[in-house]
Amino acid sequence: MGNIIAIDGPAGSGKSTVARLLARRLSYIYVDTGAMYRALTLKALRKGLDLNNEEKLIELTRDTELDILNDPSGGIKVMLDGEDVTSLIRTPELTNNVSYIARVGGVREKMLDSQRMIGGRGDSVCEGRDMGTVVFPETKYKFYLDAEFPERASRRYKELLGDGCKLSREEIEKDLKVRDHKDMNRDIAPLKKADDAVYLDTTNMGIDEVVDKLTVYVNEGRG
Ligand code: DC
Repeated sequence: MGNIIAIDGPAGSGKSTVARLLARRLSYIYVDTGAMYRALTLKALRKGLDLNNEEKLIELTRDTELDILNDPSGGIKVMLDGEDVTSLIRTPELTNNVSYIARVGGVREKMLDSQRMIGGRGDSVCEGRDMGTVVFPETKYKFYLDAEFPERASRRYKELLGDGCKLSREEIEKDLKVRDHKDMNRDIAPLKKADDAVYLDTTNMGIDEVVDKLTVYVNEGRG
């Protein structure tokens, strides 16, 4: 297996943007594992599955092919059973339903295999909630990105505004709090800093500053 850079952290910590830019800078593959959970959620919603029925969700995961493809311009394509669903997986409805899928142990086991397979294709930056703790616990490079809650809410607000979403700031804060709570308190693979991960508070840092910092860690063989 090539080098794996594991980046975890809560929504709005900047980890997706940072992971994508870091991958581009180092010519690594970028693996957005949240997008994989989102794509699976899209399939479950399309099929009208009861999201509380764990057996059905596990069965669904077994019957699903997920992939993340990197294109030469630095973008990624999220593939669900061969269909490009990249533009369909960021809606608030979908975002609010991912936690039903992400909390199921049998679903996560299958995802773990896919994520190790995709990340193992070469040198990779793998980003999510459990990269350093569960999926790639042996990797030398682990980062946990965080930011204070109001800053994370502001980033999320701006991001959603850019996507044309009309949620109020209050609604976004509420959704973010609920998601934080679910991500950090689920029984299986909760969001948690790995003991050996570097913790970075990005509240007052620009994206480039964070990417520069991580690049230095990686080039010095630390992390
Ligand atoms: O990073 P994101 O917001 O796209 O992730 C969407 C959801 O997927 C997030 O609320 C929790 C879940 N997730 C997870 O449980 N494990 C991962 N490795 C990545 C995401």
